[in-house]
Amino acid sequence: MGCFPTPLHRLERLTKELGGAEIWIKRDDLSGLGFGGNKIRKLEFLMADAVSRGCDTVLTVGGAQSNHACQTAAAARLLGMKPVLVLGRPPREDELSTGNLLLEKIMGADVRFVDARSPDELQRNMEEIAEDLESSGGKPYTIPLGGSNGPGALGYVYAVEEIIKQGGDFDYIFSACGSGGTLAGLALGSRVFGTGFKAVGVNVAAIKTGLPERVSSIMREAAAILGHESSEEEGFVIYDDYIGEGYGIPTEEGLEAIRLLSRVEGVFLDPVYTSKAMSGLIDLVKKGAVPESSKVLFLHTGGSAALFAYADCF
Ligand SMILES: Cc1ncc(COP(=O)(O)O)c(C=O)c1O
Repeated sequence: MGCFPTPLHRLERLTKELGGAEIWIKRDDLSGLGFGGNKIRKLEFLMADAVSRGCDTVLTVGGAQSNHACQTAAAARLLGMKPVLVLGRPPREDELSTGNLLLEKIMGADVRFVDARSPDELQRNMEEIAEDLESSGGKPYTIPLGGSNGPGALGYVYAVEEIIKQGGDFDYIFSACGSGGTLAGLALGSRVFGTGFKAVGVNVAAIKTGLPERVSSIMREAAAILGHESSEEEGFVIYDDYIGEGYGIPTEEGLEAIRLLSRVEGVFLDPVYTSKAMSGLIDLVKKGAVPESSKVLFLHTGGSAALFAYADCF
């Protein structure tokens, strides 16, 4: 479905600007389908499962400006299935026709806003809708928050193989961490393909508690699918210091990272995920917590379509 391999290149001017570790970028925002993003890799596996089961409708959950929901809708349309998006926060009036909601409207996705207070509640709402569809003769396929389960994480296990084939030998791979599947895949991929890099997740607080446990559990699920022996060593670290006021609320440092990347590299980050991940990377490089001698890969996981819903921040 997507366009792989995605580009991988050095960020010359950012590296110079920060004056520390050598920084590279993996452009998974250019993964091809819809406006691109990290979910396309996960959806390669999830949608294959939906197709093999003969499903006609794909349901998933997310926030009002969920990138994952939008990419799932694009994947469903590509494969001739109906997308149903169960979104957890009624948007502001002016948000309805911008960002990912605009793209979903153009794709004709069935968008349902529900008053859910937690990812578990959202999941229950989606399952109820799926049961209704099934009882009226449909064949629904449900995808959890962020596509973050064992099959979804395989997308990032194989992304590690792609990075190796592109000649990447990094000490760290930095990524925004929301529902955990991307980080789980990177950490497991590093183990499966025997790389020396550490997978670093910058928490954006899509999940309020227990994120490391969740990442470990997704890793175990994905490892079991691959028949890979589990290991006590986790191979990832999560930073909680760059969340700010909460999920979906931009931080000043994150907005500054968006401006900086656009001005020195012509690359647009997003206000919810990659800007916070980059603000973490910048801070850790400046503090020397990421050593000057190291080589770092920043995974651009996409999301910049949501920038338009945050125009007021600029
Ligand atoms: C742009 C972007 N980056 C990062 C993430 C986080 O990925 P994960 O949910 O696999 O942790 C998401 C999740 O929706 C996203 O949309």
